[in-house]
Amino acid sequence: MALRQVLYGSSAVRPMTQAEIDVILEQARRRNIETGITGILFYLDGNFLQLLEGEEPALSETFDRIRLDTRHRNLIKMLDGPIDQRSFAASPMAFRSIYGNELEENPDLFVQSNGRWSLSEGAGVDEQLKILIETFLMVNYTRSHDRL
Ligand SMILES: Cc1cc2nc3c(=O)[nH]c(=O)nc-3n(C[C@H](O)[C@H](O)[C@H](O)COP(=O)(O)O)c2cc1C
Repeated sequence: MALRQVLYGSSAVRPMTQAEIDVILEQARRRNIETGITGILFYLDGNFLQLLEGEEPALSETFDRIRLDTRHRNLIKMLDGPIDQRSFAASPMAFRSIYGNELEENPDLFVQSNGRWSLSEGAGVDEQLKILIETFLMVNYTRSHDRL
């Protein structure tokens, strides 16, 4: 079966509370378990970055639903194509949010040095995807923590 991945970035229509993010995550997890979608969702400083991995037609259907969601806007697709294997298949949650201290709580996936977050070598994430995720973390994580 053909596996596909999509990575996109978007902006929340307004700053979201932890409770609002939790609603999105709960919805996403429930649907993704049904549809076999895995991936990762970051929310930092008003911006989302989401990786979706899965088989067709589930992936297109999911992405079409997300694209129409009025809680975010300015959606920009950064990667879209076939993959041989999932990068975040091992995650039992199927989904992770990075809000608050979740980077620190996942040392198997994320490592920090000199105040900059990167994906650990053991995470086994494709190089292009790794660079895009790390760039998002660098820009948004630094900004949100500078203000605290
Ligand atoms: C940033 C963001 C990420 C989302 N991620 C997912 C997702 O991974 N899977 C999913 O099914 N819905 C996701 N959603 C929710 C969908 O947009 C939509 O509300 C939901 O799939 C509808 O589910 P329902 O038909 O069960 O009500 C996301 C929404 C937002 C704003």
